[in-house]
Amino acid sequence: MDVSCEVGGLKLKSPLIISSGVWPFDPDLWRSPYTHGVGAICTKGLTLHPRDGNPGIRIWEVRGGLLNSIGLENPGVGGFVREYLPKLKDRDVPLIVNLWAGSLEELKPSMEILRDFESDIDAIELNVSCPNVGEKDHILRERLSELSSIFSCARRLWSGPLWVKLSPMSPQVISEALIAQEEGINAVVLANTWLGMAIDVNREKPVFERVTAGLSGPAIFPLTLRLVWEVKERVSIDVIGCGGISSWEDAVSMFLAGASAVEIGTITFLEIDAPAKILSGIGSYLKGKGYAYLKEIIGKAKGGRV
Ligand SMILES: Cc1cc2nc3c(=O)[nH]c(=O)nc-3n(C[C@H](O)[C@H](O)[C@H](O)COP(=O)(O)O)c2cc1C
Repeated sequence: MDVSCEVGGLKLKSPLIISSGVWPFDPDLWRSPYTHGVGAICTKGLTLHPRDGNPGIRIWEVRGGLLNSIGLENPGVGGFVREYLPKLKDRDVPLIVNLWAGSLEELKPSMEILRDFESDIDAIELNVSCPNVGEKDHILRERLSELSSIFSCARRLWSGPLWVKLSPMSPQVISEALIAQEEGINAVVLANTWLGMAIDVNREKPVFERVTAGLSGPAIFPLTLRLVWEVKERVSIDVIGCGGISSWEDAVSMFLAGASAVEIGTITFLEIDAPAKILSGIGSYLKGKGYAYLKEIIGKAKGGRV
């Protein structure tokens, strides 16, 4: 059974990518046995300068998922390439840098730093969708021309695989994906967390200092599946499904809807061996259905490969 995949300019042994923000930089975790079933790992979102993240409670469990307000705590792009990247050289899976691309001013110098390490980085995923930093209005308002400049600047500065991770709450996610395609981006990741909130009834206050936080986990799966379906209908570049995938059935549904690969995050907190289990389920499904290659089912729910 061939479960390898080609996605957004990368060849992966498995279509299961660990999504940004859930896998520590500890080099031991970037090698077998922890990477069993893993196709690639995205780093925590990096910003130009180091960030401490948000104050107060940062993680809160809810039914069917998790709310987080980490606020992009990270060592900065420079800190990452100096402190962590050298230690990850012996990893046995590709490394995808998740780069916060909130503004052109911040993106350009960040990309210039990363460019010097092009041979150590397998892809860049531009994060234009984190709900836990800056004004939330940023991801809720129309900003096609701003995104177009961000994507084209990144494309000019990075010749390797380049992906963008969009917000599921954008009022125009299809237009944003089309702009990514026009600007030469290799794949769109759909999507990031959804804005939610929680109230601590004992304190009679919102749980999070910023009030709102990002919802991930099984609760959001049908929402992201619908996004993948709708966007893949309109773009020819690869789409990567991300949001709530917790079982092999979820992953297979994403492939059938048109995703070329999937990213998984929250489920790995519950089961660190989730990628191995999900990959084995995908393999059994393909075998049972008589398929030799994973690519045979991509977009199949629409009546053929898309
Ligand atoms: C604790 C935590 C931290 C996250 N940090 C980032 C981040 O730094 N950059 C990013 O693009 N997404 C981040 N995400 C979003 C995930 O990468 C993923 O898009 C989202 O959780 C949906 O997938 P899931 O339901 O499989 O977790 C984070 C999610 C969680 C739960």
